[in-house]
Amino acid sequence: MIEIDRRAFFACLGGTAAVAAMSAEARADALENFLVAGTAAAAASAVQGRAPTVAELEAQIPTRNYRRGVGNGMVARDGGNVTLLAPLPAKPTLADFIRLRLHSNAEHCLQSARQARLKNMDEDIVFACLVHDLSLSLMRAEHGFWSAQMFEPYVSEKVTFAIRHHATLRFFPDQETGYEYPELYRSMFGTDYVPPPHQQEEYRQVRRHRWYMAPRLVTVNDLYSFEPGVKVSVDEFEDVIGRHFRQPREGLGFDGSPVAHIWRTAANPDAPL
Ligand SMILES: [Fe+2]
Ligand SMILES: [Fe+2]
Repeated sequence: MIEIDRRAFFACLGGTAAVAAMSAEARADALENFLVAGTAAAAASAVQGRAPTVAELEAQIPTRNYRRGVGNGMVARDGGNVTLLAPLPAKPTLADFIRLRLHSNAEHCLQSARQARLKNMDEDIVFACLVHDLSLSLMRAEHGFWSAQMFEPYVSEKVTFAIRHHATLRFFPDQETGYEYPELYRSMFGTDYVPPPHQQEEYRQVRRHRWYMAPRLVTVNDLYSFEPGVKVSVDEFEDVIGRHFRQPREGLGFDGSPVAHIWRTAANPDAPL
């Protein structure tokens, strides 16, 4: 286990209370950012108790033996080893994947969906929240698009839209819905980070789309979806899944859809080729 300077770590996130309010996913991300304090730049920003700049984060890249975009399920990010995966049923369902394969972000997704349901949001939004980050097990970079692609053949166009664009909307505050720029992003992306032009353009297009509120509501339930001690089971959403996900009879990965290989990759991430 790697030793970390807890005080500096907590300080750079805004103190103990701020850390307590973070989701498990957010904490893992923050810790990952912090753990790479092998460079002078990172060490300096940790000592000063402040979030790093874009240039400091870039200087950390060659200090890792993996890239930050790699899926959470593909590398043991605590420096240990990965574990053996339990077998999947022959015709795996979405719930099987959530329980047995895409679990690195499943808790966060389940809590988001629970939040959406508690706020009486439309059921398609509840479902979008339930799956919005599941691709993070495979790939972190561009996760809105990866998640949307995985689900596109099995969900409505609006749900796909919500999943695809939630990731970009997270960079753009929306006062009307109470969505603010995440404090965590200052340490993840750098204090002086500006989303690239293609994301600015995506935001402009989504902002004037008739379904804007769908991905926006996913972001609204995204950051504040952690309640300490609350365990949410996928069973609670069996009905929502049944109504908003077209489960292929052959099992996910075996239905010949254009994205079946993504599900097979999730099913067997230990395949050497
Ligand atoms: Fe996300
Ligand atoms: Fe999320």
